[in-house]
Amino acid sequence: MTHAAGTELRDISKIETHLHLEGSLTEQRLVALASKHQSSLLEKGPDAAAQLYNFETFTGFLNAYKVCCEHLKTPEDYRQLTAELLQRLADQHCVYAEILFTPSICPRFGLPAREVIEAVLETGREGQPRGIQVRWIFDTVRQWGADPCWQTLEWALQYRDHGVVGLCIGGDEASQPARVFRDVFESAEKAGLHRSAHAGEICDARSVWHAIEELRAERIGHGVHALEDPLLVDYLIRHSLPLEISITSNFRTGAVDKDCVHPILEINRRGIPFTLNSDDPGLFRTSLQREWELAAGILGWFPEQFVELVRRTLRYTFLTEDEREQIRAILGDG
Ligand code: ADE
Ligand code: ZN
Repeated sequence: MTHAAGTELRDISKIETHLHLEGSLTEQRLVALASKHQSSLLEKGPDAAAQLYNFETFTGFLNAYKVCCEHLKTPEDYRQLTAELLQRLADQHCVYAEILFTPSICPRFGLPAREVIEAVLETGREGQPRGIQVRWIFDTVRQWGADPCWQTLEWALQYRDHGVVGLCIGGDEASQPARVFRDVFESAEKAGLHRSAHAGEICDARSVWHAIEELRAERIGHGVHALEDPLLVDYLIRHSLPLEISITSNFRTGAVDKDCVHPILEINRRGIPFTLNSDDPGLFRTSLQREWELAAGILGWFPEQFVELVRRTLRYTFLTEDEREQIRAILGDG
């Protein structure tokens, strides 16, 4: 055997730092929601959801994401989505996750944001007895500009005592420069919130620099294009600034060419800090376990190297040192 097999990885306690609540919606649940809400997806034929989920480009991905969000029509839908995600995480022995949630989607689709936020956060707390603790990073959509981002910051601050630890920016990286969001992220930092940003996913290494310099991002979502800039590689290493890697996501969105070896090989070889994630497990038909198996195949890692990865990932979380200590005890490293 050249690398860890799935069965060997299954029982290792896991941590995930880049996972979207909305993107956890499975095709099967989308069909159920379409039926519940009698949506127009039903009129497009029995394969409509499968076709939607078979995207091969970033634009196709954004479209599928939007359709998923359109089908989340009540706080109860969000409650169920959250509960199902937590169950799947618990089933994979994920003991701690920082989950991205985009509350500004709610007013866009006519939902009461506060009710939805409270439903999501409340359901998140129900994970603890099942062995999965969560914190929330409120994500905002780059192509929607600064106003929803300010609103997202306001909600994040309002709910910080309910498990919200950070602010993130996602969506279409090519649509707006990071500087548009500079003041919002500066306010977030001043208020003590953590910051992450999707960058260097479909755009080049300069976008990662902008996320660091303009948004003072502490973690970079994807960042696979950082490899193109040796100075940036050096910076990430010296500042222990991790890339949040999601292998399936990168192939499915076209961020990485399907015929290439995934850059995680080079990222690991150069000693760039990284975490391993599922990003949008529903949309990409993946799971954290599956991402670990893929990484094992590419990196040739043994189970002990995944245990080390989890230890390193804990250091990159947005928890306090005391909270990390508690997770360490759960991991058996106390
Ligand atoms: N939102 C959810 N997943 C995303 C991704 N991979 N890139 C940008 N925004 C996202
Ligand atoms: Zn993401």
